[in-house]
Amino acid sequence: MNSFLNVQDIGDLRQALAEAQEIKKDRYKYVELGRNKTALLVFFNNSLRTRLSTQKAALNLGMNVIVLDVNAGAWKLETERGVIMDGDKSEHLLEAIPVMACYCDMIGIRSFAGLTDREYDYAETVYNQFVKYSGKPVFAMETATVHPLQAFADLITIQESWMESEKRPKVVLTWAPHPKSLPQAVPNSFAQWMNAADVDFVITHPEGYELDPKFVGNARVEYDQKKAFEGADFIYAKNWSCPGVTRPQDYGKVLHDYHTMTHWTVDAEHMSWTNNAKFMHCLPVRRNMIVSDDVIEAPTSLVIPEAANREISATVVLKRILQSQAV
Ligand code: CP
Repeated sequence: MNSFLNVQDIGDLRQALAEAQEIKKDRYKYVELGRNKTALLVFFNNSLRTRLSTQKAALNLGMNVIVLDVNAGAWKLETERGVIMDGDKSEHLLEAIPVMACYCDMIGIRSFAGLTDREYDYAETVYNQFVKYSGKPVFAMETATVHPLQAFADLITIQESWMESEKRPKVVLTWAPHPKSLPQAVPNSFAQWMNAADVDFVITHPEGYELDPKFVGNARVEYDQKKAFEGADFIYAKNWSCPGVTRPQDYGKVLHDYHTMTHWTVDAEHMSWTNNAKFMHCLPVRRNMIVSDDVIEAPTSLVIPEAANREISATVVLKRILQSQAV
């Protein structure tokens, strides 16, 4: 595996989920695989879970880890070609990438969407420059449009929490209010991975927040949140800004004053519409904005197991990269 961005990159999902359970039973089983190998984790944006879980995954595999916070201690990087570099950016990504690649065997990238230029973001311009100019395997740690390590961990969590083997679980992705403009990476990847999994998948959001069709796939979109929640086994809450599908000029915008959208906040009444659903969120989460205190603190909340499974999803992905290098 030379690049991990989309669900297709992991191949057969059942096999990947089986590997996740193998790792969970013995997370050091492949500790010899990464001996004398180095993972470089490049962060253009903040992180708690991704930073810690991916480092832990690399350590599980016996690797060395270098973490680079581009905006804290490194030269500020220009990412666009053709720019006259007379501003505050001292180095171009086109030199920085091959230099970084000299010191490692694989590179993880966290680089969020700028949310001003849809074409630039949806072309995964920064991630693809790393693929093109590093000559090393590259994996997404949340890029402009996707967060596959999160979606893989979410799927592992759903599989572990679903005991009713006869029935496919109903999984609902719901938009929820937030005061700031957030990327679409988490809902995009969640939708992509749920469409590939054996679940009944529904997406609900206010009109104007339609996700890109390439991620929605065959999922049912229901604008009435209550109807969407009926009979749900899992509720996955997330805010996202306007993806600009129906109105490109609104890309990255918050379309409504969040004070007027609090009826979308997932609270106990919302959860009462479901089939005693489990609550999920990738974290970090703004309490009493996305979800009420009582829902996130309830025994049906899976937010901590999801975070714990980030170590597992990352261990599987880094193991796959190491195994493909060994061939
Ligand atoms: N869920 C997630 O990616 O968390 P961080 O932004 O803290 O890494």
